[in-house]
Amino acid sequence: MDVNGKVAVVTGGASGIGQAVARRIAGEGGKVVIFDLNEEAGNAMVAELGADHCVFANVNVVDEASVKSGIEAAVAGFGAIHVCVNCAGIGTRRQNLRKRRPVPPRFMEQGHLHQFDRQLQCAAPLCRSHGEE
Ligand SMILES: NC(=O)c1ccc[n+]([C@@H]2O[C@H](COP(=O)([O-])OP(=O)(O)OC[C@H]3O[C@@H](n4cnc5c(N)ncnc54)[C@H](O)[C@@H]3O)[C@@H](O)[C@H]2O)c1
Repeated sequence: MDVNGKVAVVTGGASGIGQAVARRIAGEGGKVVIFDLNEEAGNAMVAELGADHCVFANVNVVDEASVKSGIEAAVAGFGAIHVCVNCAGIGTRRQNLRKRRPVPPRFMEQGHLHQFDRQLQCAAPLCRSHGEE
């Protein structure tokens, strides 16, 4: 995928998988909007990648109003959204797997259900960016 000149929302972009995705997109000439709860790490990514290539929005991906304001910040910052990469989440502890304990409901709820609903809100600005409205 050619992300040069594209605007990508990366949830969880302040750490781990999302951080690596954000760096890769910015490294290939794309613009990144990080949706994350970790303000300190998010701002560190803006400092690292440069404000011309990265915007941080303190967004809780399971909160509809929070996602909406993040999308507004993304469009205000870079004028469009072309790509959305969902990496925000909370991991299960290894003990849960080793001891075969059930996965905590909070993990399932956040990682596998609401996040996708909320990110659907990106669809409208995504469509506009692609001229498909
Ligand atoms: N790392 C792996 O090998 C691996 C493998 C399979 C699945 N996963 C899953 O992928 C997801 C990301 O893994 P990671 O290793 O990058 O984790 P990570 O903890 O390094 O990064 C997750 C980021 O998501 C952010 N975040 C968490 N909840 C959020 C919320 N409600 N709103 C906005 N931001 C939020 C955190 O602040 C953090 O910056 C997790 O759900 C994890 O379980 C990871």
